[in-house]
Amino acid sequence: MFIFTGNAHRKLAEEIAKSVGIPLGKVEIKRFPDGEIFVQIMENIRGRDVFIVQPTCYPSNENIMELLIMIDAARRASPSRITAVLPYYGYARQDRKDQPRVPISAKLVANLLVAAGTHRLLTMDLHAQQIQGFFDIPVDHLYAAPILVKYLRAQQLSDVSIVAPDPGGLKMAHAYSTLLGAGLAIVAKQRKSATEVEALNLVGDVKGCNCVIVDDLTSTAGTLCEAARILEEHGAKKIYAAVTHALISDSGIERLKASPIEKLVTTNSVPRNDWHDGPVEVLSVAKLLGKAIMRIRNNQSVSSLFKI
Ligand code: R5P
Repeated sequence: MFIFTGNAHRKLAEEIAKSVGIPLGKVEIKRFPDGEIFVQIMENIRGRDVFIVQPTCYPSNENIMELLIMIDAARRASPSRITAVLPYYGYARQDRKDQPRVPISAKLVANLLVAAGTHRLLTMDLHAQQIQGFFDIPVDHLYAAPILVKYLRAQQLSDVSIVAPDPGGLKMAHAYSTLLGAGLAIVAKQRKSATEVEALNLVGDVKGCNCVIVDDLTSTAGTLCEAARILEEHGAKKIYAAVTHALISDSGIERLKASPIEKLVTTNSVPRNDWHDGPVEVLSVAKLLGKAIMRIRNNQSVSSLFKI
């Protein structure tokens, strides 16, 4: 087997390869002066099981194109199978036609991955689980919850209430509340623009509770901070956030620091910004992804990795 990576998050790919016990496969990736990408796989992969690790985070378009070109380079070298490993699947939020004349970009990305030559997808905490149905190839969908829940349990918080920051996050929040034996609340949010949200209502009682807002991703941190504001208004004791993909911008970090959120716990599914002294704890998903890769390689069940 071989594990390759592009430039999106080399550190994570190195950690994954280390956990599997092999070095990363050699690949040359260059940019032509006009920005075009050139890839050459520097290993003989004929008949091999190939895994290509690349979260399609910022800069999404560069990272997606680089991944597609790597898959194309690989497929022309006769491997037995190509698995695209996307710890974070970009464009996932564009998963439905909710206004006239808009694209379903999550489906377009799925089409591109398959057209390039992907035989199998390994990914984690998709924005919506139904995105699996955009693929007619096998999809292994992992959850970061076992890692985040273990961390939250270790904090030994009392009177915990898990909070979905919007109705779309209810399923995820329900899973966390079940695993932690905690209460459940939902914030009704209205998005004013790509960078601004407003929390309108809170369903559930959080008075005197330690609240943990859970979400699949944070970008501007607007959703988390608005949810925290309304929780504080309703008498929450301490407020934490647990988010799988921290696509957070510098302004997001500043927003977070100014918010009542004590700590954001997240994973290294995307490369880490320079958090400085930010209230952020980053947990590694490398071993989880490494285990899933080995299970795929050995035709074993991946679902056992969901157990906590
Ligand atoms: C939306 O449905 C997502 O789950 C996140 O809540 C949202 O995309 C986070 O974005 P931001 O941090 O910019 O508010």
